[in-house]
Amino acid sequence: MIVVTGATGNIGRSLVGQLLAEGAPVRALTRDPDRAALPAGAEVIRADLTDPASLEPVLRGADALFLNLAAGGGGAAASAVEAAVKAGVRRIVLNSSIAVTDDPEGDDNFLARMHGAVESAVRASGLEWTFVRGGAYAANALQWAQEIRETGVVRDPHPRATTSAVHEDDLAAVATVALLDGTGAHTGKAYVVTGPESLTREEQVAVIGRVIGRPTRVEAISEEQAAEERATPSLPKETLLELFRLFATTVGTAAPVTDTVRHITGRPARTFEQWVQDHAADFR
Ligand SMILES: NC(=O)c1ccc[n+]([C@@H]2O[C@H](COP(=O)([O-])OP(=O)(O)OC[C@H]3O[C@@H](n4cnc5c(N)ncnc54)[C@H](OP(=O)(O)O)[C@@H]3O)[C@@H](O)[C@H]2O)c1
Repeated sequence: MIVVTGATGNIGRSLVGQLLAEGAPVRALTRDPDRAALPAGAEVIRADLTDPASLEPVLRGADALFLNLAAGGGGAAASAVEAAVKAGVRRIVLNSSIAVTDDPEGDDNFLARMHGAVESAVRASGLEWTFVRGGAYAANALQWAQEIRETGVVRDPHPRATTSAVHEDDLAAVATVALLDGTGAHTGKAYVVTGPESLTREEQVAVIGRVIGRPTRVEAISEEQAAEERATPSLPKETLLELFRLFATTVGTAAPVTDTVRHITGRPARTFEQWVQDHAADFR
């Protein structure tokens, strides 16, 4: 039995489908099973990861846990690791981030600190582990969907910032291999998983325009203005400004591209264009 946290999210939903396709029994966690719309083959269980008491029962009998920080945050993830040990789970595959570099001097931003802390908890658990250190998600482009639908103009502080956007299906495919591995080949490995090409935001927005058949462009706005407009209780202005400063450092450099997807799954990583084709309805 594989337990999937964040099962209704970008990676989780794809992962549940891929695990079921491999014939694995899946327990999919969500705060709201009635709205989850997960495949009938999955055992869909209500769980709020910020409530540690609810965790151990849902982990009992599981062989492996896919742990996503998005499901409740770092404190919830640390509690889930403890609960997994108590419940006798053998393996954790952690959804981590390319921001974690294994170099204490490099891990100086909040993304690295946030994911690095959970990696440390997983390492210290004594369980088998694999880290899926994803680069920027192609799904981040969904933040532009409304602007593209309404005006075709994306307002962004760093139009030339670069990422090698990774498709959620590829992150899920790597996680599937690690969760189901019977050879031990993926135990104790930290995989940096990226898309196949470095693109600027302007190039990404142009790809979206091409796929939906409408003109699109990026208009530069200040970091301050963007942070002011986009701040939410879970993503406050200061955090956004730190994120924008990180993006600024990528301008003029190609984002790193790894061969992990091909190496682990045997198939090439999906392009950003393919991701847009898979999500075109969101932008039309
Ligand atoms: N975006 C990037 O470029 C990037 C890059 C590297 C790493 N990451 C990391 O990847 C993660 C995001 O993954 P994702 O995009 O797959 O997530 P996502 O789409 O945001 O989905 C997260 C899921 O977590 C569930 N959830 C939220 N709070 C919960 C709680 N208290 N208890 C239980 N479940 C809860 C929600 O499901 P329900 O509503 O059904 O409960 C939600 O569907 C973050 O940790 C992020 O730091 C992101």
